[in-house]
Amino acid sequence: MINLKGRDFLKLLDYSPEEISYLIDLASKLKQQKKKGKKHQIHKGKNVALIFEKTSTRTRCAFEVAAYDLGMNATYLDPTASQIGKKESIADTARVLSGMYDGIEYRGFGQEIVEELAKYSKVPVWNGLTNEFHPTQILADFLTIKEKFGYLKGINFVYMGDARYNMGNSLLVGCAKMGLNFTACAPEKYFPDKALIDECQKLAEQSGATLKFETDVEKALKGADVIYTDVWVSMGEPIEVWEERINDLSPYQVNAKAMSYAKPTAIFMHCLPSFHDLKTVVGKEMGAKFNRDAMEVTDEVFESSQSVVFDEAENRMHTIKAVMCATL
Ligand code: CP
Ligand code: NVA
Repeated sequence: MINLKGRDFLKLLDYSPEEISYLIDLASKLKQQKKKGKKHQIHKGKNVALIFEKTSTRTRCAFEVAAYDLGMNATYLDPTASQIGKKESIADTARVLSGMYDGIEYRGFGQEIVEELAKYSKVPVWNGLTNEFHPTQILADFLTIKEKFGYLKGINFVYMGDARYNMGNSLLVGCAKMGLNFTACAPEKYFPDKALIDECQKLAEQSGATLKFETDVEKALKGADVIYTDVWVSMGEPIEVWEERINDLSPYQVNAKAMSYAKPTAIFMHCLPSFHDLKTVVGKEMGAKFNRDAMEVTDEVFESSQSVVFDEAENRMHTIKAVMCATL
């Protein structure tokens, strides 16, 4: 019997495969209930605080809608308009907020900040993205894979691009725990940290997953069921790194040729937001500067029938709801 009441959700490394499965299945159940119009206000009257030190569309909206669906109230805290960090420490913020709220979400910079918040909080703390990990995103991705293929174990999962940041790290851990065959495809300097790979190797031995780190695109994508990518420059990184990233990662763009190496049944995934066209301020500026019409994925692949990116986006809400539902 799985009981997650009172637990923080800071990174997938803290959760067993059974607990991760439980959250994915709970999200699926909550999704079906919502589609049928069945209310589930099981945390009526509770309150959650949502701290965002970086911008967000999906994660913020997912937490807010999920909280309302569960009967809760949500307070959005924008650090430019609060005392957090500048005039009040994380430890003090944790003790103040946990006296008023039943749960706290945090999106920001170093993983150590969300860990510190959890250490001093009396109520569950949920990681809404740090530089190192984005665990709620992986629950949504795995729910989406399960919906498309019916299972997770044995799926050939290829991550293209910067694999040493939050998405690459979290997907590596998730695959190692849940038995998906993970391949990171990038130049070597973009592979995850050696210590994390070693830890995941041990997890993979238990789950039956294989972990590969490959620089050759065709080799990596042969037999792939899932091709996943993320932006080449993440939130909080300086604008100057664009040039180096474009030079290093262009060969790893997900385009029609890359997709042709994978299985014909393969799906394309992306956590979003994505620079698949020039319809954003940054995309337009960088596109003009480096003479490109897309970055990590072409518009053709992004808009193709193999792309499931908007299913993933919707599933952020159902899976975040499952995390709050289970831990409160
Ligand atoms: N995928 C994701 O976390 O999106 P947001 O930055 O919009 O929250
Ligand atoms: N790697 C990206 C993920 C966004 C959801 C970032 O940190 O900006």
